[in-house]
Order: sequence, then structure tokens, then C-alpha cells
Amino acid sequence: MARSIFPFLLLFLFTYYYTGVQSHEEGYVTAEISNKGLEFLKDLLIEKAESSLVPLELPKIEKSVKIPIIGSVQMVLSNITIEKIHVTSSTVKTGDTGILIDVSGATANLSMNWKYSYSTWLLPISVSDKGSATVQVEGLDIGLTLSLNTLQGSLKLSLLECGCYVNNISIKLNGGASWLYQRLIDAFEGKISSSVEDAVSKKLKEAIPKLDSVLQSLPKEVSVTDIAELNVTFVDEPELSGSSLDLQINGLFYAKNEVAHSKHYHKMLKASDSCNEADKMVKISLHENVLKSASSVYFEANKMHWMVDEVPDQSLLNTAGWRFIVPQLYKKYPNRDMNLNLSVSSPPIIEVENQRISAIIPLDFVIDILDADELIPVACISMVISSSGSAEISGHALAGNLKLNDFTMSLKWSNIGDFHMHLIQTVMSTMLKTVILPFANLKLSKGLQLPVFHGYELQYAQILCTDSWIVICSDVAPVEQLRLV
Ligand SMILES: *[C@@H]1O[C@H](CO)[C@@H](O)[C@H](O)[C@H]1NC(C)=O
Ligand SMILES: *[C@@H]1O[C@H](CO)[C@@H](O)[C@H](O)[C@H]1NC(C)=O
Ligand SMILES: *[C@@H]1O[C@H](CO)[C@@H](O)[C@H](O)[C@H]1NC(C)=O
Ligand SMILES: *[C@@H]1O[C@H](CO)[C@@H](O)[C@H](O)[C@H]1NC(C)=O
Ligand SMILES: *[C@@H]1O[C@H](CO)[C@@H](O)[C@H](O)[C@H]1NC(C)=O
Repeated sequence: MARSIFPFLLLFLFTYYYTGVQSHEEGYVTAEISNKGLEFLKDLLIEKAESSLVPLELPKIEKSVKIPIIGSVQMVLSNITIEKIHVTSSTVKTGDTGILIDVSGATANLSMNWKYSYSTWLLPISVSDKGSATVQVEGLDIGLTLSLNTLQGSLKLSLLECGCYVNNISIKLNGGASWLYQRLIDAFEGKISSSVEDAVSKKLKEAIPKLDSVLQSLPKEVSVTDIAELNVTFVDEPELSGSSLDLQINGLFYAKNEVAHSKHYHKMLKASDSCNEADKMVKISLHENVLKSASSVYFEANKMHWMVDEVPDQSLLNTAGWRFIVPQLYKKYPNRDMNLNLSVSSPPIIEVENQRISAIIPLDFVIDILDADELIPVACISMVISSSGSAEISGHALAGNLKLNDFTMSLKWSNIGDFHMHLIQTVMSTMLKTVILPFANLKLSKGLQLPVFHGYELQYAQILCTDSWIVICSDVAPVEQLRLV
């Protein structure tokens, strides 16, 4: 659990610090983290800190204390260790200079060894004793100001300010002389308090650069499938509005092992609509160019073709079924089985509109005759399918669903002479509705698995489409244990 926070911060990170140098590149994926999301992150960070700050060793404290009658007593506190820190109340606030995390009234338990020795004229030998003690720190207040900016495509986290203050401590001795107790409190209370303050501040100052180097080392691309990668380079500076922290990510797909092609996508407006429920932790907006880049990668990789050899109405895959609409096909190849070779002929045009996604898909439809082990292509029909669909969150995937709006077609080439296109129209329409779209929907229903960030995933996600953007509003929660098994 504790280790899981670092990669998680990739998506949701804290604080903002305006550096004055700003690039104006815009991301195709934006993540807007609401106050609720920041609260959630802060709680995670504190939970992580509670466990990783301890055990924390403090330097040994020595002091010579003058005690009436006895004289000068040499006292040493050693092996002072903060064993446990417990935070009960904390807040996160966004400010001009960064994000402020305030912890107030935390408690801490310390253990230590004590030792004293003195010589007195009353006794011929020097007297010494030792034992252990526990110290309870109450009212530990910690304040952090963090800044976040973009550095070479990564997020850079830095600590601007850090303060720690101990309000009260109580010391409990195990053993020891009775006079010792009060002396110890009088002489060491302040020292222990300031030692705790210094050690906690120092440890936090060391922890933030470590967290930062984890952020810096996060990959700038994420493998999505065997052929596609997603560019998760941060662009522009994080932006802080009164109610959220906005991060922008390049967010385009590109082919694996390929030099980035400098494709130019049009500049776009920001996603305007917001989710119905304002109280989600994060709002992730995907620009339609993300879908375009994904479809372009799949198209270039030659992944958009399918061989159809099974349909609900199997007669459509025998020349006999085409007897009356393409007589010359039946005449040349009577009662022969056919396969249909479908391929997308140029990248689909995808547009995200208000409450729907439209796709124009150019398709080549090659009729192959099965001849022993060979396929004989006999004709190719070009189609342009206009469809519209919706995006939805299904289980843990971003899934889609397409409906046929309309299609046009023409004969691209034929080895068996001309077709009566109007006769074919009905068959093609049936084919599209009963074979092609169900097939596409089956693929789309599996969708794109939403990433699990090392133990955290989106929960109660809502999705909506607005002009050019798909917007997902969601909470984040640890992955249910059952799903991990
Ligand atoms: C120092 O403190 C730690 C933690 O309380 C304990 O495990 C260890 O034995 C102590 N060492 C000595 C020398 O007392
Ligand atoms: C810390 O100290 C408090 C008060 O003395 C005590 O109730 C609590 O059990 C201690 N916790 C640990 C882990 O020692
Ligand atoms: C410090 O703690 C002691 C014992 O718990 C309590 O009596 C005292 O009021 C506290 N002082 C402050 C300033 O909180
Ligand atoms: C990823 O995005 C960044 C920022 O937009 C860009 O500079 C970089 O070339 C992109 N990388 C690839 C491999 O497309
Ligand atoms: C299917 O058609 C495409 C293009 O029309 C062609 O490149 C491919 O070789 C064909 N596949 C088969 C198995 O015939």
C-alpha cells in the first residue's frame, strides 16, 4: 500500500508554482483534480509519511545539571527514536505560492535510554544509573509548502517551505530515582522538542527530493497494446484554479518502435462542460485527437482488416445466396463458398460531438471465392459508412458502441463484370447490420482498459461527450482485493 503512491502521483499531483516560463503547447488529455481529489491525495501522502518517517533517530543529548546537595549531575539521553507518528487532522489548501499541507495536533511516541552519573563528597565512589523512558509528543504541528511545475515533460516537485512545531511533551521513566523525573523534564523538555522539530523537518526535506526523483523517472510513454504507445509527456505548466489543479498531458497514441512523426493536429478549445456531479475527485478530458491518433496508429499498422467466414445467415457466404443479385458470380462459380475480406481503406474520421461520437469509416469489401486452399478475389466494393456511437464506462474499461447511420458504396473493381449496385444495396445493408457492426461492437465493448495506477483505479466514473472532448469524471479508490487475486 505504502509504496503504491508514487506512480499514482503521475496522474494526480499536488501544488503549483508559477515559474514565469510557460510553454503554450496544449495537451490532448487533461486531468483536472478537484479539491476532493487533492484531499484524497493528501491523505495518501500522509499515510505514506506516517509509515516512512519512522523509526527516526535523533541525536544524543547530553547535559550537566546542577542539583542541590548532590551537586553536578552528568545526564545523557541516547538512542532517542521516534517510533510512531499519528496524524488525526490535516488540511490541504491551494495558494499563490504553492499548495500548503497543514498537519495539526499529531502525536508521536518516542523511546530513549537515559543515564546519569555524579560524584559527591558524601560518597567515596561515583554514582550512576540508567534505564529507559518513553516520551509522548502531543500537538505536533507540521506545515509544508510544495510547488509543482513541468520540467522537460515531467512533473517537478519541490519543497518551498517546511516547518514543524512541538506543543507539548510528556516523559515517562521506567525505573530511576524519583528526583530524576522532574529534573529530566526541566532540563530536557525543550531540547527533546527542538530535536524532534529538527529531525522531522530534516527528514521531510530529504523525502521530497526522493519523491521528486520518482516523478522524474516516470516513463514519458505508456504501452497500451502490443503496437501502440501513449505519450504521457506533461505539457504546459500545471494550472491552479480556485477549485482544482489542472494538468495537461500530450495524450496522443503513436506506434511502438517508431520515430515520432510530427503529425499536426488542429488546436482546440478547452473542454467546457463539466460533469453533473461536481464532487468527483478528478475530471479527465480526452480530446478527439486522442482517438484519431489511436485509429491512425492501428490503420498504419495494418490492423484494420478482417476476414469474415461466418455470418448469421450463412447463405450470404455462398454464391447461391447471390444468385439473383449478381447472377454472373453464380454463373462463373456455382454453389461455391465465399469469404469476405474487409479492410478499412483510410483512417476513419472520428469526431466527438455533443453527447455522441461520429465515425466515418471507408471500407473495402473484397469478395473472395474459396477454391480448394486458395482464395480467388473476384470483386471489390468500396463503402463509406457513417456511424455514430457513444462512449461508456463498462466495468473497468472505456468502451464504445456504434450505430449505422448511413452508407454509400461503389464498385471498385470486378473480374466478373458490372454489378447492379441498387440490388446489392439491401444485401450490403443486412451485412452491415448483422455482421460488420455487431463485430465492431464486440471489439469496442471490450474497450480500452482504464489504467490501474499501482493499486488505484477509477471508481463511479461518469462519461459524457461534449464538443471535441470525451470527459470522464470519477473518484479514485484502491483496487478491490478480489480483483487482485
Ligand atoms: C535503541 O532503540 C531501538 C528502538 O527502540 C532498540 O531496538 C534498540 O535495542 C536500542 N538500542 C540500545 C543500544 O538500547
Ligand atoms: C503512544 O503513546 C500513547 C500514550 O502514551 C499510548 O496510548 C500508545 O499506545 C502509544 N503507541 C505506541 C505505538 O507505543
Ligand atoms: C501538556 O500535557 C500535559 C499532560 O498531558 C497537560 O497537563 C498540559 O495541560 C499540556 N499543556 C499544554 C500547553 O498543552
Ligand atoms: C510526446 O509529446 C511531447 C510533448 O508534446 C513531444 O515533444 C514528443 O515529441 C512526443 N513524443 C512522441 C514519441 O511522440
Ligand atoms: C484482403 O484485402 C486487402 C486489401 O484489399 C489485401 O491487402 C489483403 O491481402 C487481402 N487479404 C487476403 C487474405 O486476401
